[in-house]
Amino acid sequence: MFFLSSVAGLWAFLTLRFSIPSAVCRDRSRLIVGRLSEFNTEGVYTHLRDSHGIWLVCIRATGQRRLMAYRATCTHLGCLTMWSQADNEFHCPCHGSAFDLSGNNLRGPAPRPLDVCTLRILDDDLVEVNTARTFRRGPGRALPPDSYIVL
Ligand code: FES
Repeated sequence: MFFLSSVAGLWAFLTLRFSIPSAVCRDRSRLIVGRLSEFNTEGVYTHLRDSHGIWLVCIRATGQRRLMAYRATCTHLGCLTMWSQADNEFHCPCHGSAFDLSGNNLRGPAPRPLDVCTLRILDDDLVEVNTARTFRRGPGRALPPDSYIVL
């Protein structure tokens, strides 16, 4: 009897577990990357590059210190870029493109700057990056206000 009720319980659990789509349980494109105070130092935060293909960057732009999230994929053919602290540039290992700290393409075949993700501040100063909402930069295209956080 105990065996039958255990099997029935396991059956009920598995039926419920796999009848709920995983997309309802979590949204993989929305990443909580830390608290705002963790990104006060200007420079590149590399810890999300391998796991999520994101560079978090604290830069000074138009008189402000801003936190931004760049897609780490090269805008040429999509290779994963690398950060070179020595050169203060992002390098693409595939065909030699390079991008400056602002993500602007400097040389090589990459046709445009690195794409940027949208960010927002949640409760408790937690920073959320939305990797599904990206902005393609180019000449004459001003950054949307949700593509950076003023620090
Ligand atoms: S994919 Fe980066 S330069 Fe070609």
